[in-house]
Amino acid sequence: MEFDRSQALARISALRELLRENARKYYVENAPTMSDFEYDQRMHELEELEAAWPEFQSPDSPTRRVGSDLEDGGFAKFPHKYPMLSLGNTYSMEEVEAFAERASKTLEGGFSYCCELKFDGTAICLTYRDGRLFRALTRGDGVVGDDVTRNALQIANIPHVLSGSGWPAEFEIRGEVLMPYDSFDRLNAERELAEDPPFANPRNAASGSLKLQDPAEVGRRGLFCTLYHIPVGQVDFPTHDEALRAAAEWGLPVSADRRICRNIGEIEDFIAHWDTARKSLPYATDGIVIKINEMDCQRALGYTAKSPRWAVAYKFKAEQALTPVLSIDYQVGRTGAVTPVANLSPVFISGTMVRRATLVNADQMEALDLHEGDWVYVEKGGEIIPKITAVEPSRRAPGARKPAFPTLCPDCGTPLVREEGEAKWFCPNSLGCPTQVKGRLIHFLSRKAMNVLAGEATVEQLYSLGLVRTPSDFYSLRREDLLRLEGWKERSAERFLQSLRESREVPFERVLFAVGIRFVGETTARDVARHFGSVEALAAASREELLAVPEVGEVIADSILRFFADPRNGDEIRRLREAGLRLSVGESGPAQHSDALAGKVIVISGNFSISRDAMKALIEANGGKNSGSVSGKTAFLLAGSKPGPEKIRKAGELGVPVLDEAAFRALLPEGALPESETPAAPEDGQLSLF
Ligand code: IVH
Repeated sequence: MEFDRSQALARISALRELLRENARKYYVENAPTMSDFEYDQRMHELEELEAAWPEFQSPDSPTRRVGSDLEDGGFAKFPHKYPMLSLGNTYSMEEVEAFAERASKTLEGGFSYCCELKFDGTAICLTYRDGRLFRALTRGDGVVGDDVTRNALQIANIPHVLSGSGWPAEFEIRGEVLMPYDSFDRLNAERELAEDPPFANPRNAASGSLKLQDPAEVGRRGLFCTLYHIPVGQVDFPTHDEALRAAAEWGLPVSADRRICRNIGEIEDFIAHWDTARKSLPYATDGIVIKINEMDCQRALGYTAKSPRWAVAYKFKAEQALTPVLSIDYQVGRTGAVTPVANLSPVFISGTMVRRATLVNADQMEALDLHEGDWVYVEKGGEIIPKITAVEPSRRAPGARKPAFPTLCPDCGTPLVREEGEAKWFCPNSLGCPTQVKGRLIHFLSRKAMNVLAGEATVEQLYSLGLVRTPSDFYSLRREDLLRLEGWKERSAERFLQSLRESREVPFERVLFAVGIRFVGETTARDVARHFGSVEALAAASREELLAVPEVGEVIADSILRFFADPRNGDEIRRLREAGLRLSVGESGPAQHSDALAGKVIVISGNFSISRDAMKALIEANGGKNSGSVSGKTAFLLAGSKPGPEKIRKAGELGVPVLDEAAFRALLPEGALPESETPAAPEDGQLSLF
């Protein structure tokens, strides 16, 4: 079919949308919506249209993501215009001097050095074409890189379009994608809650994030980019420093932390300065890069097979400190795992004061041959997680004993257990051990679970006052309860309650993740939820039926069985159902219903057959607005049993109608009330779940 320009654009957009949606279903949800054949045909059609209409080419078109997509992490691969090389490394000033000497032997005239920080992230190569970001490639194997353009577009300081003028029609610029320490800490805290393995250091976190298949998630990871190299021949500046200055004027992120040095003494000063100053940078650096500044000198020196002869990296030594262990804590985690943590006499390492370091587990303590009061070498693994690398036996006090790993839970006194094949000791009292209980509550509210706006301090407060013991307790909290507590104001209470109400919309798979069944992480929860469809079906599943789910092995199956075998968990699930949470796939939940109450401001008072929060959610789901006090604007007062006399009086005074629950329900269209909202069966304390 022959298209005109606007028809071509419309068809291209439609095809891209279709292919993207299918790719998302394929990669993210494992459920493609079209056959491979159809997919290939549409892709082919799109390729032809893009070839015929080059002005509509776009870096984020699905045609750019073909090739090895399916086998290899879902990124198209492109060759680098200039290979991405590495740098010669040195740890000594002598070698820096040798580098300078070699350079002066080859170079005739005078030259200078441009000294920069060596950023410890993951390398990226950006191509700008006609002032727009055209492509972003990872280093890959140095010759071919992964196309991560869609992800790069989500990194806040990478410009999509250049500013200023004078940029070449097309050029590559290279640099590093980094994750600042605070984003790294936040990400790892979230991962820990989600039982995902934490990243070892910000560098791994940055490269892992850059390779995500979900650009929106990349955008949330707090990454940033710093650029430091325009391969020769693309721009025409006499010096590297001037090229970087121009890049900065075009809006590209270039670090100002560089200095032109004339001699070794100045290089040494720069190194000495940053050896200390880098410790207060908010991101990781692992050395200094010394580059010959003049471009003609760079050209004259050239490259070895692996690295440029015009640059060298001086690497900072991993910082170590020797300090005594003051005591050892045994920390209980959300899953009950007990981790030994050494309290150290405080020492300053890589930018922060280190007071504690992990001893990992009982085997590691044994391997270190740790004794009480030992002096230990502490290092920041990947510059961030302090670990004890060795003990210094010469400083051991005579008669020092080995610390005894506790046999009882330090939190609740339950005897610890160590299951076969497990490296850690566990407290089996999962429902009674305070740290485990609080950990689960925090997990329940976390972003990837119910996404309720509350922090650990809130959980700590509500738990310590006995207001919340299990997740369902959150849904019985009332405004008045919160306002009585220290630090709560109208606004914060309403925000928290509103966030809880909104959490009723969270789909079943995330609710299942939120309840915190051991070993059931985000992905497993999703697979299991989709396979069984409802919590009833899951609770009734046999071991064999559980093992039939592709990603479920014996450990997960047994954990799910154990969870549902405990009547307290059954009770809790029932209470969550009463609170209005979604416990089956596709369950409508309290939203969706109707506009029956559109524009009506409603005040509720007293108790109903469902919780007050469920009632408020029902009002909102049918278009109504909740208000706390009766006024001239109130459409009606919905009064349950034991309504507040003050509200009744006020309604009477203002002529506001008072409806009971039955009258209210009659206003709603049939089916507006999902089954889950029907009054709960009276508590019988039995094992039956539903
Ligand atoms: S220049 C031709 N400058 O360190 C080589 N690299 O270990 C051009 N790096 O591959 C690289 N900070 O990924 C250069 N200021 C900086 C750097 C830097 C970090 C990375 C880069 C390089 C690796 C070598």
